[in-house]
Amino acid sequence: MNFKITVLPGDGIGPEIIDQAIKVVDAVCRKKGHEPQYTRGLVGAAAIDDSGDPYPEETHAMCMESDAVLFGAIGDPRFDNDPKAKVRPETGLLAMRKKLGLYANIRPITTFPSLIHKSPLRKDLVEGADFVAIRELTGGIYFGRPQGRSEAGDTAYDTCVYHKYEIERICRLAFDFALKRNKKLTMVDKANVLATSRLWRETMQELAPGYPDVEVEYMFVDNAAMQIIQWPKRFDVLVTENMFGDILTDEASVITGSLGMLPSASIGLHTSVFEPVHGSYPQATGKNIANPLATVLSAALMFEYAFNLPKEAWLIRQAVEASLLAGIVTEDIEPLNPASTSEVGDLLADWIDKSNI
Ligand code: IPM
Ligand code: MG
Repeated sequence: MNFKITVLPGDGIGPEIIDQAIKVVDAVCRKKGHEPQYTRGLVGAAAIDDSGDPYPEETHAMCMESDAVLFGAIGDPRFDNDPKAKVRPETGLLAMRKKLGLYANIRPITTFPSLIHKSPLRKDLVEGADFVAIRELTGGIYFGRPQGRSEAGDTAYDTCVYHKYEIERICRLAFDFALKRNKKLTMVDKANVLATSRLWRETMQELAPGYPDVEVEYMFVDNAAMQIIQWPKRFDVLVTENMFGDILTDEASVITGSLGMLPSASIGLHTSVFEPVHGSYPQATGKNIANPLATVLSAALMFEYAFNLPKEAWLIRQAVEASLLAGIVTEDIEPLNPASTSEVGDLLADWIDKSNI
């Protein structure tokens, strides 16, 4: 197959981790006879520095014309520490999600046997934990208007808005995932307090009879935050609104042993975007120490979801497992004797080249 991939390295460690993912994609393509074609675009602080716009039209056009987008990270402390900044890198990420119609963010939470001991949770709690968090990505408080400050500046407001069609499409997608898995769907909301959550619950209750094989449960977000840590194995597919999903998936990442391991796929109306769950880790920028595995595993999701090539995805996951087993891992996992970002990338590509799968 020929694929057109738009590569958006973004900020901080983005360029370093993306380079490793590309090594891996190239290795898989060499092995399986595919032809990847890359175009690179600017997003985030890098794009602000270049043109003042964190998601320039040129980048958007590139994404629209490609088969998939591989995304690094976004965020820069220059803006974090300046609450008055007029443009922010994160605005670029939100604009990209909105303009590409990426209403669903899929975050699989799986454990790797060789990493279980790195989880701060007890082995018996995390061993075998395996669920998918589906986060609504283009609605809710991230996008609701009005948002801003009073004239006097002493009051600020954000608005959480959800339309029924937005809830319906994400819930249907979650049902489809549940049907392909263990047929258990947990909807997380705050229906005891929030009107939007009550619309979520009502919509889910209307849809559920259409999926008689799926067991649906409802859980308040505070309770979910507790249960993810206390009993992660109870979850199969979890669906929730934008901000709850943001928070719960960072929390869920500790189950895997490192936030540096968690990939994601954002899918919707146009081209899908594959990006690690973690941020731009500015302290590590340029040091060749960041863990590239979340981005590499995002590339695996790209093969699976964007190109419908599950074997290629599986090959990448095998390579990751091999690097973990060999202990060729970055300092977040192995502080005493760490490998560098690029060494991990080289090992993965080499493993794929030499594998006879
Ligand atoms: C994520 C990130 C983003 C979000 C930030 C960088 C805007 O935390 O993808 O989870 O909140 O969605
Ligand atoms: Mg987040």
